Amino acid sequence: MAEVAFGGSAEKISLEEVGLRYEVDGEIATITLDRPDKRNAQTFATWSALAQIGDNLPQQVRVVVVRGEGPSFSAGIDLRMFTPEGVPGQGSFASSAKLDSSAFEQRIAQAQQGFLWLRRPDIVSVAAVQGHAIGAGFQLALACDLRVLADDAQLCMKEPALGLVPDLTGTKPLVDLVGLSRAVEICLTARTVGAQEAARIGLAELVVAPEDLAGAVRDLTAALLATGRDAATATKRLLQGASGRTLEEQCAAERQEQVVRIKALFAGS
Ligand code: CAA
Repeated sequence: MAEVAFGGSAEKISLEEVGLRYEVDGEIATITLDRPDKRNAQTFATWSALAQIGDNLPQQVRVVVVRGEGPSFSAGIDLRMFTPEGVPGQGSFASSAKLDSSAFEQRIAQAQQGFLWLRRPDIVSVAAVQGHAIGAGFQLALACDLRVLADDAQLCMKEPALGLVPDLTGTKPLVDLVGLSRAVEICLTARTVGAQEAARIGLAELVVAPEDLAGAVRDLTAALLATGRDAATATKRLLQGASGRTLEEQCAAERQEQVVRIKALFAGS
């Protein structure tokens, strides 16, 4: 997939123009935010492209790595959105504000599609985060199942400080990971959470030196792939459903998944 249409437009632009790279190597897909000179700032086109990558993910892919080129994972939304001129071809917040509310919500829903697929049970998504992950950058890291941080990582939910709310699917994983009180504190102060604190409060699985980030992600990916696809998918589905179920319901879900597994493993024996 080398081109992407966005905002309902028929016009197509290349991934390179969007500032993304996308590579598939067997069971591993790697998405790279690739606008390092602008600290990998994101636009609506970035999110459309992410959604299209998700829609077209080859069936063999089991791990999706999301990384950023250069010193920062992502400095969040492209600040040109706040200017009257906006981002060429994509408008501005001022132009979006003129849409009726349901059309505007629809536009945000499209943007959210770029993030939501990263939770699919048939894949495991891993964010490799160095430097700044601000606003949409933090939310993209939160959209992934796992986060590996370089020790220089700085996470910041800046939206409330800009008069906005985080709306790119980040609020639920944040609350699920750190609890309501800590999430309120992090968001409403818009403070920076460093890598060590992130690991302590559950926002990171692993913190490594910046030069070890790629290697740590490679090792984690290899370990994830060592588990068979069907058992991994069923287990992730089970774990994802756990917080929304009672213990009894979860036990029933375990039984159902296990019956399917054992029947599949021992069919014909
Ligand atoms: N949008 C557009 N350009 C950006 C950018 C952004 N979000 N962040 C950085 N850049 C650009 C800078 O303008 C600069 O460009 P020029 O070289 O052309 O001047 C280049 O990237 C390098 O930036 P800095 O010199 O500032 O780099 P730094 O390493 O000293 O600082 C930084 C990095 C702390 C991330 C700083 O750039 C910064 O604070 N950026 C803005 C962060 C921000 O407020 N993002 C919005 C978050 S809210 C959000 O994302 C909302 C939402 O989802 C709805």
